[in-house]
Amino acid sequence: MIIEQNIKTLPLAKVAEILKKSEKLNLTDWNAMNIATVSAKNVPSSRMVLLKKINDDGLVFYTNFNSKKGQDLTGNKFVAVNFWWRELQEQIRIEGEVEKLSEKKSDEYFNSRPLKSRVAAIVSQQSEKIDSYEILQKEIDDLTEQFELNKENPTRPEHCGLYLVKPNSIELWKEGDFRTHQRQKYVKKDDNTWESSFLSP
Ligand SMILES: Cc1cc2nc3c(=O)[nH]c(=O)nc-3n(C[C@H](O)[C@H](O)[C@H](O)COP(=O)(O)O)c2cc1C
Repeated sequence: MIIEQNIKTLPLAKVAEILKKSEKLNLTDWNAMNIATVSAKNVPSSRMVLLKKINDDGLVFYTNFNSKKGQDLTGNKFVAVNFWWRELQEQIRIEGEVEKLSEKKSDEYFNSRPLKSRVAAIVSQQSEKIDSYEILQKEIDDLTEQFELNKENPTRPEHCGLYLVKPNSIELWKEGDFRTHQRQKYVKKDDNTWESSFLSP
């Protein structure tokens, strides 16, 4: 289940409501989000990932810990996340910090994936240079066949797993006519409560 029921934290509950709306409308890649990281040299970069879960703790996505984003996150845990749905005319901006989820949770997620996806995660050294996609595909096909023949399941490689984005601020943006957009920004305070304000479009 991507959207956990009974989220109590107000801004996260609102994010979950919007996600539910986009899921219900069956919008293409409704759970796709852009996530920006910053390198050790202070250079930002961003890419799309899929939201795997949202609950009171934050937002969960799955990736390769050795990838470019993984390396950035090792040095700087701060991220910016962006969702936008054209059909809803809504945008969500989140800033926060990441942490790795437990090995058990990453194992559970990995084991829920189709065999080919698990094998691809083992073979692909995400963000590294490769010589050819044909060679990569052959390696994936060969290893998949081996697991199938031996009736074995692959073990999650240590470099693949789940990150949790713990939000520090959440902005809900709703498009209005003639640029009269509405922006509600929630900022997490030191006592873990959330302060809400409205921003000029
Ligand atoms: C719609 C969409 C969803 C994606 N979902 C994921 C994902 O969940 N996890 C992931 O690691 N990469 C995902 N990717 C690929 C990433 O955008 C990116 O190419 C990859 O993670 C490598 O990024 P990096 O080199 O900055 O680490 C997705 C790409 C698209 C376009």
